[in-house]
Amino acid sequence: MAAERRRKQDTLELRRRLIGSSCRLFFSEDPVKIVRGRGQYVYDEEGAEYLDCINNVAHVGHCHPLVVKAAHQQNRVLNTNSRYLHDNMVDYAQRLSETLPKELCVFYFLNSGSEANDLALRLARQYTGHRDVVVLDHAYHGHLSSLIDISPYKFRSLEGQQEWVHVAPLPDTYRGLYREEHPDPAAAYAQEVKRLVDGAHEKGRKIAAFFIESLPSVGGQIIPPAGYFQKVAEHIRGAGGVFVADEIQVGFGRVGQHFWAFQLQGKDFVPDIVTMGKPIGNGHPIACVATTQAIAAAFAATGVEYFNTFGGNPVSCAVGLAVLEVLEQEKLQQHAAHVGGFLMELLHQQKVKHPIIGDVRGVGLFVGVDLIADVEGRTPATKEADCLVSRLKTDYILLSTDGPGRNVLKFKPPMCFSTDDAKRVVAKIDQILTDMEQEMRSCETLRRGWQ
Ligand SMILES: Cc1ncc(COP(=O)(O)O)c(C=O)c1O
Repeated sequence: MAAERRRKQDTLELRRRLIGSSCRLFFSEDPVKIVRGRGQYVYDEEGAEYLDCINNVAHVGHCHPLVVKAAHQQNRVLNTNSRYLHDNMVDYAQRLSETLPKELCVFYFLNSGSEANDLALRLARQYTGHRDVVVLDHAYHGHLSSLIDISPYKFRSLEGQQEWVHVAPLPDTYRGLYREEHPDPAAAYAQEVKRLVDGAHEKGRKIAAFFIESLPSVGGQIIPPAGYFQKVAEHIRGAGGVFVADEIQVGFGRVGQHFWAFQLQGKDFVPDIVTMGKPIGNGHPIACVATTQAIAAAFAATGVEYFNTFGGNPVSCAVGLAVLEVLEQEKLQQHAAHVGGFLMELLHQQKVKHPIIGDVRGVGLFVGVDLIADVEGRTPATKEADCLVSRLKTDYILLSTDGPGRNVLKFKPPMCFSTDDAKRVVAKIDQILTDMEQEMRSCETLRRGWQ
């Protein structure tokens, strides 16, 4: 067992004293101290095992031995910046290119998802000569100043929206503007983007890019209707802008049917820029931007060097290569399709049983369970979702919520998550919801008794 240097309470006190309070803890009332991880499990200081249903960074499993070994072996030989020739960087770019449409054939390596999106913004602006950005409501694209500006999830509670940012409605067919009964929600939501583009043009503004998470996760585990990306791209490219697919949470085979989530939209769709992060290094800080020759050439034409001290170093690239190797060897993309399908089936059975479950949606190991307080209004059941997640924690299951109403249970576990894990977590959810319903009935009886 990994050695614990301090008692949990001491760690907590030191953290409160030394670390900025805006760096928040999960379960702040009673945080979990994790000292070790393996596969889809993490272990606390007393050796208790938690099933991790949310860590999409530990993509091929916490501390996967092949990934750890690759980092260690390269660390022993050399780590330096990318101004020297090294095979790892080109081997890695080549392997990544094999997963992408052929147009996306130029790569930049960085250290975080935020850096990747910030570079995507620079590329888009340089290529188009335009400044404005269209983003989805509730989106999050990173913590740099440039990205807070294009993340309504953040800027709504700060100083507000910049004049160069235009916010389109989430293409949410469950709770959004156009729902499941709409004959063509893809076209209707894309038309909203067109409306924003036209509005910007009327003010003399010009669109540089449309940023979208290929499956909006912070927005509430949303699955955009098929064809939406193609139609939006038509409007954006028609205005001279580029389409940026943020695959930072959802890429690398998580969706099962495809390696990249944007491919769910159809074979005919190719973004202009794809950004990658989180799962790319299984916990090691790597990120990547893939784009077209034309966009890269426009960026190079400035004559300004792009230098990133750690981006693309031999150790990071060895780790990235190992992640791809494990995905392939262990057939984790196919596994995600199988286990994700099984999990969805179990959750659909729960939906029939518990009226609080308004919607179950997902693809592969990206699944959302939308909890509602009433069927008619589909009002987010925020308190109940929070309560469910807390109770799961006491049963050693880590799950969390997302969405504007913080009522959507989000599943995005390490890709080695098994059908047994799915059975275990769904059985627990069933038990907790049954208990909650029982408690609500007792309260209702009591309330009636008082009247
Ligand atoms: C969709 C998306 N894009 C970008 C980022 C930023 O990535 P990072 O935290 O690695 O900077 C995040 C992080 O949560 C994210 O979820």
